[in-house]
Amino acid sequence: MKALVLTEPKTDARFTEIESPSIAPGKVIVRLKAASLNRRDYWITQGLYPGIKTPCTLGSDGAGIIETLGEGVEKRSVGDEVVLYPGRDWGTNEAAQADDFAVLGMPDNGTFAQCVMVSQDQLFAKPQDLDWSETAALPVAGLTAFRSTMVQGRIQPGQRILITGIGGGVAVFALQIAVAQRAQVIVTSSREEKIQAAKTLGAEAGYLYTDPTWNRTALKEHGPFDLIIDGAGGPGYGDLIALLKPGGRLVNYGSTAGRPESLDLFKVFWRQLSLIGSTLGSPRDFQAFLLFVEQHGIRPVVDQCIPLSEGGQAIAAMQQASQFGKITLHMEESIFAPPQT
Ligand SMILES: NC(=O)c1ccc[n+]([C@@H]2O[C@H](COP(=O)([O-])OP(=O)(O)OC[C@H]3O[C@@H](n4cnc5c(N)ncnc54)[C@H](OP(=O)(O)O)[C@@H]3O)[C@@H](O)[C@H]2O)c1
Repeated sequence: MKALVLTEPKTDARFTEIESPSIAPGKVIVRLKAASLNRRDYWITQGLYPGIKTPCTLGSDGAGIIETLGEGVEKRSVGDEVVLYPGRDWGTNEAAQADDFAVLGMPDNGTFAQCVMVSQDQLFAKPQDLDWSETAALPVAGLTAFRSTMVQGRIQPGQRILITGIGGGVAVFALQIAVAQRAQVIVTSSREEKIQAAKTLGAEAGYLYTDPTWNRTALKEHGPFDLIIDGAGGPGYGDLIALLKPGGRLVNYGSTAGRPESLDLFKVFWRQLSLIGSTLGSPRDFQAFLLFVEQHGIRPVVDQCIPLSEGGQAIAAMQQASQFGKITLHMEESIFAPPQT
């Protein structure tokens, strides 16, 4: 089968032919219809991810049709349309994942391929109202956004929420979830056109984080905030706490901009702030997220849907962060079929 494989550390993923998975007991082989990119795939190709092993098929997000059932699989049938929970072995603690928790696509072979083998408990029914590309956009970004906003952020109707770096896949889902919860949402971005796109999804206002005075203007015009959802970290992280109401919450799920440089602990303890970390989500969170998507009619924002064969270049291009929302890959077999003679 065709796949996008990291063949050596610190190289681009290669579109190549690999052996199809052979079925194992308790496992299921899914013929993938679509997958989607995450910044994690970019970090892996840069060597900036723990435990990199090669060769490994990349990709954490996928959706498709069950093709083969392993011995002992009873909960699923061949032909079921499914979306994959992107992790395995979360464990029994809803507060945090177990030590052996892993995400599809490193070290286990992932979804940037025509087929993937996963455990039966990683399979969830495909939302009926979404197409394959939209469905494949859901798992990592949507689940991370759902846990950050709803579980860790405990978002409430009417609250003022700030979401940083709105062009990101997670950030766009966080916006859609917060708007569905009837929160007032303000966003930041490096590009004016992304702020405009966020407004069409229900954001009230937006600020360019490239403007050094944005924090003060946002505080004056729309603050202070009940909740901030941040995936950037970096030098700006410490400044975010000044934008929170007393008792406010700052949920961070990533550090695209690096490590924070400073943190005024006096403000944190005196103003009773909560600094909270969030990573992906449990299978229970995923089930709740899929229900939320269905109940609120959320449609993932897909910036572009490209063939699997072009995924390597698309991962490398994530460095520029020019997309708004998700980049998805489709596995249409006709693309890979030998030319007709
Ligand atoms: N903890 C988890 O489970 C988890 C899950 C998914 C992702 N993550 C992490 O979360 C981060 C975002 O992931 P993603 O997949 O959403 O990435 P993405 O789609 O590639 O988006 C990254 C976005 O970061 C924003 N950004 C960059 N520098 C910034 C800064 N200085 N201040 C504010 N925003 C900045 C940009 O927003 P603009 O384009 O609007 O400027 C960019 O679009 C990554 O670091 C990723 O590794 C963690």
